[in-house]
Amino acid sequence: MKILVTGGAGFIGTNFVHFVSREKPDWTVTVLDKLTYAGRRENLSALEASGAVRFIHGDICDPAAVSEAMEGAGLVVNFAAETHVDRSIQAPSDFVRTDIEGVRVLLEEFRRIGGRMFVQISTDEVYGSVESGYSREDDPLRPRSPYSASKAGGELLAMSFFHTWGVPVVVTRASNNYGPWQYPEKLIPLFVTNAFEGLELPVYGDGLNRRDWLYVEDHCRAIARVLEKGRPGSIYNIGSGQERTNLEVTEAILELTGADRSLVRRISDRPGHDRRYALDVSRAEAELGWRACTDFEEGLAATVEWYRANEPWWREIKSGRFREYYMAMYSERLRESRERGR
Ligand code: NAD
Ligand code: TYD
Repeated sequence: MKILVTGGAGFIGTNFVHFVSREKPDWTVTVLDKLTYAGRRENLSALEASGAVRFIHGDICDPAAVSEAMEGAGLVVNFAAETHVDRSIQAPSDFVRTDIEGVRVLLEEFRRIGGRMFVQISTDEVYGSVESGYSREDDPLRPRSPYSASKAGGELLAMSFFHTWGVPVVVTRASNNYGPWQYPEKLIPLFVTNAFEGLELPVYGDGLNRRDWLYVEDHCRAIARVLEKGRPGSIYNIGSGQERTNLEVTEAILELTGADRSLVRRISDRPGHDRRYALDVSRAEAELGWRACTDFEEGLAATVEWYRANEPWWREIKSGRFREYYMAMYSERLRESRERGR
């Protein structure tokens, strides 16, 4: 079986490619990745060197690159996306391009070659902020950030290919992932690496926003189940049920890294900050026989150990253009917060 993994040099894609190489040694894996700021080819270098993975440097919006990468593929898993909410607020254009138009290009090629299954990786953020209860797959979509609106566009387009032409598409909506190889702009890797560096931990607003935290390995297992058992035309929520406030996550990170509590800084909030996401995963349990099995405290400890053991990986990222992003995103808000003495 040939599988194309787009965005395979990013966080979840890297974990998934390693997972597939381990669990499905008879599959042939091609990765198509544009290597944006978030993509790192070296994550896959051992697999490339052993011949387990073929890497193509290209854009999912480019039909020629997509056609080369998809040749002979029965399975496609589309991870390629712009993914950071804060960046989507600064500059939405790349989000619309990759997360919607890129999906169209992939779907048209997939339809042309008559592939067996196309998995569009979406997000629980398409439901919008859910103050109480748990989102089910048939609930209305109320995305509220340029990121989640673009992801909603991408998954709706994917479903339209199923309804219009019977293209075998499945959509998964996962909750917040954490684990090895996550780019340190997202909450957990940012706070873990800042704690190691003795830098401040910038908590937005009151820190009481809640997320459902999914260990990336559990997510990879879910996608493998979708590829085996998913019903074309279906949507599956993939979450852990382990909700934590951002302050609880911060507290756990302080404990695991031994960093000083005085590093925690409450800064001005993200505009339109979604309060809570929470998923009902009974469909994935019933149809895929999947459930998350990593306890949050256990997964977080493993993640902190990974960042401790892989310091050169994140130090290189944080010393590059990340620094400019960090300054633009945080320095003024941190200064204001220090002045307020919080
Ligand atoms: P990431 O930002 O770490 O990686 C994205 C990857 O896509 C990078 O390797 C990047 O180079 C590549 N890419 C970006 N634009 C591209 C383009 N035009 N053509 C080809 N490659 C391109 O993202 P991630 O956190 O691994 O997320 C992967 C997928 O999972 C995304 O679709 C995201 O929306 C979804 N998702 C993520 C989370 C999460 O918590 N991280 C939760 C739910 C869903
Ligand atoms: P993030 O990792 O950006 O994921 P998402 O916004 O897609 O859920 O953020 C997770 C939560 O952490 C979210 O409520 C915003 C908050 N947050 C902070 O408080 N400080 C930060 O520096 C970051 C990056 C996020």
